[in-house]
Amino acid sequence: MADQPVVLLGVTGGIAAYKAAELLRGLQKANMDVRVVMTKAATRFVGPMTFETLSTHAVRLDEISELTADSRITHIDDSQEADIMVIAPATANTIAKMANGIADNLLSSMYLAFAKTVVVAPAMNTNMWEHPATQRNVLLLRERGVFVVEPGAGELACGDYGSGRMANPDSIVAEVKLRLQVQRKRDLRGMRVLITAGGTREPIDAVRFIGNRSSGKMGFALARAAFDRGAHVDLIQANVDMPDVPGVRQVEASTAAKMHAQVMKRLPDIDILIMAAAVADYRVADGPAGGKVGKGKDEWCIDLAATTDILCDVAEHHKGQYLVGFAAEYGLEGVARARGKLERKKLDMIVFNDISRTDIGFDSDYNEVRILTKDSEVLLGRAQKETIAELILDNVAQAVRSRIGEGSLPA
Ligand SMILES: Cc1cc2nc3c(=O)[nH]c(=O)nc-3n(C[C@H](O)[C@H](O)[C@H](O)COP(=O)(O)O)c2cc1C
Repeated sequence: MADQPVVLLGVTGGIAAYKAAELLRGLQKANMDVRVVMTKAATRFVGPMTFETLSTHAVRLDEISELTADSRITHIDDSQEADIMVIAPATANTIAKMANGIADNLLSSMYLAFAKTVVVAPAMNTNMWEHPATQRNVLLLRERGVFVVEPGAGELACGDYGSGRMANPDSIVAEVKLRLQVQRKRDLRGMRVLITAGGTREPIDAVRFIGNRSSGKMGFALARAAFDRGAHVDLIQANVDMPDVPGVRQVEASTAAKMHAQVMKRLPDIDILIMAAAVADYRVADGPAGGKVGKGKDEWCIDLAATTDILCDVAEHHKGQYLVGFAAEYGLEGVARARGKLERKKLDMIVFNDISRTDIGFDSDYNEVRILTKDSEVLLGRAQKETIAELILDNVAQAVRSRIGEGSLPA
């Protein structure tokens, strides 16, 4: 990446197209070279001259000449020159094309040809935004690694009040800066990282289980971010309903016992262990009943027995690997309990999150965490789990690098 990163800014046909000019200025102020591509509909809202003047580059337009064979194949060449692609505002229509691989104009063709990071800032009327089709398309993009800067709530151009208003240009610039920083980072290059994700399920009989609400989103975000930073990543997952993470080796371990076995098997060969999975503390004492237990009794008492505490076992057998635990505790008084766990289990770092909050944590796309180490506590304010994952790894990478400096990481 050159000193001045190149941003390909796609502008689509919504009222918020005029805000793309402010966004362009913001990106330039953050030392980025911006090239603009507009859809035909976008040119009905703002003239290309505005972007041409501000960016000092010719604006790529959806004219037929752009799509004919000439000495340069615009959608491929421009895609390769850029370090990051930002589509803001992104209409419901363009988001739907992106989600479905439709390449019927210059912008959607460029998107498909673009192999690096893509950031999208949707902007539309509340009903369009909340429509299941749009929500499904946005989810699909997220799952494929596109970063979505959520629209905010407020008064919309159509006079309605609700969500769908394009995010503030400053927050889009902040997201682009973060993504470019991550691209530059290769601070876990060559390291072997083992991550656990999801929630284990302890069978009661053939159909019932004791489970928890962990979605696996945090662990998956960590796996993807660690891979992007150059690590060899193994992901042990329990009951996660999400697409595979490209480049990461994944294995299923549905119960606490299976997760324990998988972690211990891999422990000797890793540098960093991040235990983000919610592992059951108890299982059915006598093991699951055969078949399905029928209805008929008024009460059914099940004796539970503690599962093996994976981190305690790891603490006994590890050889200098950097150990990160997660503590999901109810209420802020849980911070003290998390610190106790850090010390008791001889962890290097523990990530505390407050499960009494409904706007973060379990099954949410957002999290807010405190990173505790022996002698520090850092609050990471509410943000998307992808961002929280990056910030956690910033801390892990820094600690591991300084430990390598001290020569105590395993060979
Ligand atoms: C006045 C007006 C305002 C519009 N605003 C939006 C908008 O904010 N968001 C959106 O998704 N579509 C909006 N549309 C619809 C899009 O312009 C339309 O779907 C168009 O096909 C989008 O093309 P594009 O995605 O290629 O830019 C608007 C249409 C009109 C006529």
